[in-house]
Amino acid sequence: MIKIEGLSKIYTSRKNTVTAIEDISLHIPKGAIFGIIGLSGAGKSTLVRCINRLEEPTDGRIVIDGEDITKMNAQELRKARQKIGMIFQHFHLLQSRTVFDNIAFPLEVAGYKKEEIKKRVQELLPLVGLEDKANVYPSQLSGGQKQRVGIARALATNPKVLLCDEATSALDPQTTLSILELLKSINKKFGLTIILITHEMKVVKEICTDVAVIDASKIVEQGPVEQVFIQPQSAVAQEFVSSVFPNELPGDLLRQLAANPNSQIVRIQFLGSTASDPIITDLIKSFDIKANILYGSIDHLRNTLFGTLTLELQGSPEQLDSAHKYLQDRNLKVEVIHSV
Ligand SMILES: Nc1ncnc2c1ncn2[C@@H]1O[C@H](COP(=O)(O)OP(=O)(O)O)[C@@H](O)[C@H]1O
Ligand SMILES: [Mg+2]
Repeated sequence: MIKIEGLSKIYTSRKNTVTAIEDISLHIPKGAIFGIIGLSGAGKSTLVRCINRLEEPTDGRIVIDGEDITKMNAQELRKARQKIGMIFQHFHLLQSRTVFDNIAFPLEVAGYKKEEIKKRVQELLPLVGLEDKANVYPSQLSGGQKQRVGIARALATNPKVLLCDEATSALDPQTTLSILELLKSINKKFGLTIILITHEMKVVKEICTDVAVIDASKIVEQGPVEQVFIQPQSAVAQEFVSSVFPNELPGDLLRQLAANPNSQIVRIQFLGSTASDPIITDLIKSFDIKANILYGSIDHLRNTLFGTLTLELQGSPEQLDSAHKYLQDRNLKVEVIHSV
């Protein structure tokens, strides 16, 4: 659906040049909720603003649905932009216009007739849960409601792609969840492809199907969310994952346990239905080892269960080997944190 190839952006001024993004290539499938995560200054906003050419790329290509955005002239670009909606961290609403007129704005620009505009806005208001706010002004709305106006406005011209630049970063956690739910339902209902820029892994965890990690202008890792959460490769990705699934044991506890010659500390990660299997009972019964639970958490990754369990296993080397094999045969990711 969206192909980004060798995309770079260098900002030049009289004083200096800044390479904001460098040689970025991504393939974003139709209907995906594609997260792009990175720390502040990594180049996220530049990347997303190049997709609809709010920023002119210095190099590279962006192809959406077979059409090369980077080659378009001003008129072609105006037309293409009707198919690319965008929402922002600070909403960017027109303060002197009502909710209705804010949502109507892109339709006016696109030359829709008055009646068509009215019909479309009246469809969009209930979709974003604002049917009773048509005639109020942005200053009378909460942050979450403002973003709902932003979403309705972005959807007005029936786009195929929605770009979200830190769309929930100005919202409290509860409101963030409700906006993410709304985005998820729109994605499902209309098959809309969503590109979601964020610095928060919990946003990725809630709704993304795929994720790319951007660090210092470059993509350092990408893949389906399950893959990146279970086996993060880069240091940045590992840091992001541990921000939502912390699983470090206190150092002195580790040292104390490691003093026991027959003990081994393992971290097991589960995904999906195995999260509810009676693994510890099976381990104890089948291999006659002792299992001591040190840390456990269970959460969801989008709609899938995702769990971590840190155990101290005690037994002979043979027993521990068999236990590992048993766990691996069940497709669990097993990692020995410390063994002596
Ligand atoms: N208009 C601009 N002119 C010059 N440098 C810029 C401009 N916009 C962004 N940058 C620089 O590009 C880098 C990436 O910025 P940005 O894309 O905003 O990152 P992020 O959204 O990940 O915080 C930063 O070093 C930033 O200072
Ligand atoms: Mg930004």
